[in-house]
Amino acid sequence: MLKVNSIEVVYMNVIQVLRGVSIEVGDGVSFPTRANGAGKTTTLKAISGMLKTEEGEVTEGSIDFDGKRIDRYGPEDIAALGISQAMEGRRVLEHLSVEENLLVGAYCRKDRAAVKQDLELVSDYFPRIKHLRRRVSGYLSGGEQQMLVIGEPSWHVQS
Ligand SMILES: Nc1ncnc2c1ncn2[C@@H]1O[C@H](COP(=O)(O)OP(=O)(O)OP(=O)(O)O)[C@@H](O)[C@H]1O
Ligand SMILES: [Mg+2]
Repeated sequence: MLKVNSIEVVYMNVIQVLRGVSIEVGDGVSFPTRANGAGKTTTLKAISGMLKTEEGEVTEGSIDFDGKRIDRYGPEDIAALGISQAMEGRRVLEHLSVEENLLVGAYCRKDRAAVKQDLELVSDYFPRIKHLRRRVSGYLSGGEQQMLVIGEPSWHVQS
């Protein structure tokens, strides 16, 4: 269970973007739709720990995952708990092939056989990715790149 408890988020010590945001997420997630610029991505970055890469900070409230308070954790520790964020905007390693991009997502894993199985799983989710696996990622279409971005973090943590 993930619980966001009335968080405030501030970028660069001065730009307040979120105030009093609370979300509770069990299995089977839906995320509120809001206007552009309302703070959806910022909320997700607060959860995944990625805020820190943009000088953002949770300044009020807390985020709990399975009873642990995680809003002071680094993104690598949050990823190790099984939480990862598929970023907006074609964030692929463009000189690497599709398959190499996926393998980068498994960098921390030692269980090579299970990694291979999970690679198959991503191909099941996105048959197009299987078809494109030897292609240079930078030359994929926007939609294909986003499939790759979604495919990568969905399997990089050992379950
Ligand atoms: N790194 C940052 N530094 C300063 N302000 C930021 C930063 N990132 C986002 N913002 C501001 O925070 C607000 C919320 O942005 P955010 O990206 O969270 O919105 P969003 O709901 O995901 O929008 P969209 O639907 O367009 O993706 C916006 O006003 C944006 O300008
Ligand atoms: Mg967004």
